[in-house]
Amino acid sequence: MNVNRRNFLKSSAVFAGWSILPTGAWSNPLNSRFCTAHIGVGGMGGGDLRQVSKHPNVQVVGLADVDRNRLNGAGKGFADAARFADYREMLRTLGDKVDGVVISTPDHTHYSATLMAMNMGKAVYCQKPLTHEIDEAHELAALAKEKSLVTQMGIQLHSSSGNRMTVDLLQQGIIGKVSKVYVWSNKTWGDDGPAYSGSDTIPETLDWDLWLGSAAARPYLKGKYHPGKWRKSLDFGCGTLGDMGIHIIDTPYSALDLSAPRFVRVSCREPNNLLHPIKNTVELEFAGTKHTADSLRMTWFDGADAPKAEGQTNPDLQLEAGKKLPSQGAMYIGEDGHRLLMPHMSGPQPLPRSLLGSVVKPELKPVNHYHQWVDAGMGNGTCSAAFEYAGPLTSTVLLGVVGNRFPGQTLQWDGANMRFTNNEAANQLVSRTHRTSY
Ligand SMILES: NC(=O)c1ccc[n+]([C@@H]2O[C@H](COP(=O)([O-])OP(=O)(O)OC[C@H]3O[C@@H](n4cnc5c(N)ncnc54)[C@H](O)[C@@H]3O)[C@@H](O)[C@H]2O)c1
Repeated sequence: MNVNRRNFLKSSAVFAGWSILPTGAWSNPLNSRFCTAHIGVGGMGGGDLRQVSKHPNVQVVGLADVDRNRLNGAGKGFADAARFADYREMLRTLGDKVDGVVISTPDHTHYSATLMAMNMGKAVYCQKPLTHEIDEAHELAALAKEKSLVTQMGIQLHSSSGNRMTVDLLQQGIIGKVSKVYVWSNKTWGDDGPAYSGSDTIPETLDWDLWLGSAAARPYLKGKYHPGKWRKSLDFGCGTLGDMGIHIIDTPYSALDLSAPRFVRVSCREPNNLLHPIKNTVELEFAGTKHTADSLRMTWFDGADAPKAEGQTNPDLQLEAGKKLPSQGAMYIGEDGHRLLMPHMSGPQPLPRSLLGSVVKPELKPVNHYHQWVDAGMGNGTCSAAFEYAGPLTSTVLLGVVGNRFPGQTLQWDGANMRFTNNEAANQLVSRTHRTSY
């Protein structure tokens, strides 16, 4: 069935019935509580809701989800929170009752929801990657700075002791100046099959038009987009690089104090303008910093067999007999050949291990990424993955995503002007046109 304006209005009328406003939901004095509204409460959003609400000062006042089953499932634990299908209605209705907004929707909706919350002056916790487009990431970073808003991107591993230990050791110079970084994942958030076609009946519990948000309308297809599978589609997700690369590249990006790369070059299958490739190699070159050689080469590879294949053939990645590369992680190569391996969600492993004798072991207190945001929202401390940091990180990762439309081409990037200097077609992908009916 084609989604048209008539269907949208019809479904909006049906879904308006979801808005359940409990009485007395805001009886707590606002100054003593940090009142949160959550957009997207299934999947990761359910985890985000649980984590944020564990903070002793948090009161959850609003929940929004376009899938009624997911909304009601999450709502069971938060009977006092008002429920909505449309987050815009939630934010307008709750208005000043909300201090902070948590956004855990698919990637293509991050920008619109975050922009609305920021324009209302709210503290925002937005899942990674911050946005689906390069220019959107820069815009949100600039707005956060301009309005001095408390913001945090959902890269919770950024606050883990394993990540902070790696950053500390690299900055102490455990392997000297870094000249190369390899980053990888064996995930396959793409689809090399034929373009999706046909249509399926939209479940009665899903507002498909709200799910599409500002992306171009198209028929609903069961099992292709919602839930989770949207990662494979160019218009909604950012493939494996946007899904896992943003976590794994976060560590070298902050440890080595990187900024916009000079170029990006992607090896992958020919583009079909609909779906991300399931296997990619992305090369990025960065200008040198005080922690790197004169320049830094970063190579990302993804795909089910990629770590095994690279681990066997690339001398930089070979380990001692009997050991194999982790399925996701990073390898840092120093100018003098020393290396540091960081398996994803783990801690640093210098190669050789004796290098640990050359550094001071840092004392690291535990940090809760979610609660850091709540505390900062209540005036205590700052966020370590604020949008001023997360915007440029996201934009760097998205350059690799754009690159998969131009396999084999070296796309020169002018970070200051946010333009490719040698490919006009690629420049068309730095931003997108938003659907006006949304
Ligand atoms: N930080 C992490 O470790 C981590 C892990 C998984 C996912 N994520 C991120 O979380 C986000 C969601 O991923 P997921 O796997 O949970 O996806 P999902 O499709 O499983 O869940 C998305 C949820 O948002 C709802 N939703 C969709 N559009 C909406 C809208 N316009 N308004 C309100 N609700 C809407 C869906 O109904 C669903 O409940 C993504 O940005 C993803 O990258 C982060």
